Amino acid sequence: MYRFPPFNPSSGRRCDFPTGSIFNDDSLEIIKKLPAASVDCIITDPPYFLGMTHNGQKGNFKDLSICRPFYRDLFQEFARVAKPEACIYFFCDWRSYAFYYPIFDEVLKAHNMLVWNKLSGPGNHYAFIHELVLFHAGKGANIGGTNIIAGVKAFASGAKSVDGAKVHPAQKPVDLIAKFINDSCPPEGVVLDTFGGSGTTAVAAVRTGRRFILMEQDEGYFLTACKRLEDEYRSE
Ligand SMILES: C[S@@+](CC[C@H](N)C(=O)[O-])C[C@H]1O[C@@H](n2cnc3c(N)ncnc32)[C@H](O)[C@@H]1O
Repeated sequence: MYRFPPFNPSSGRRCDFPTGSIFNDDSLEIIKKLPAASVDCIITDPPYFLGMTHNGQKGNFKDLSICRPFYRDLFQEFARVAKPEACIYFFCDWRSYAFYYPIFDEVLKAHNMLVWNKLSGPGNHYAFIHELVLFHAGKGANIGGTNIIAGVKAFASGAKSVDGAKVHPAQKPVDLIAKFINDSCPPEGVVLDTFGGSGTTAVAAVRTGRRFILMEQDEGYFLTACKRLEDEYRSE
């Protein structure tokens, strides 16, 4: 059984479950406490930033350079905690891809870009109905299919019927994360999510028989994720 490293409660809060833990703090701090080569798969969905406003003004793409050191350090931690066989899935969209790609590729190596077709309806300016996922293939990974993922609906178009209420504005469908886990994580392997939100990755890990480590800095979302996990174990 995976053993979690000693944790200093003064640097944040955590919630332990039979097959994983959720930490409430900055992921760049928490991840440093994980042992090297201890994680079998990383699936994470960071804030996309763009469309941000400063004092009511629309943000400038170049403003994002302030985030570059954070992501370089975080990806170096991904490289340290991931086993050589671990695949890494990093969500982004048509705007944030341009920011993340060079850093991801430099530190981790990008092997592909996955396109999740959210199956949502039409809208303005050729409504964008997809999200992107930067993908690093672990050593020996052998995943079939194509880079277009089309069978999983977003909340706006139907995930609610299987995932229950939407409790986070950027909530991903459990089935999408479960697909990535089933594609690449060994049975009972450890899945890491450093931007855990409402806990979707942890729920998907429980449903697919894997273990999980989730990190979420917002206390409200941390508590939402803990509640979701409690409900998930109760319903098993
Ligand atoms: C796009 S959302 C993830 C949503 C998630 N996939 C779900 O299904 O609920 C990104 C989350 O990352 C959290 N976050 C942002 N910066 C963080 C950091 N440095 N450490 C931990 N969490 C962070 C935000 O509070 C937000 O809930």
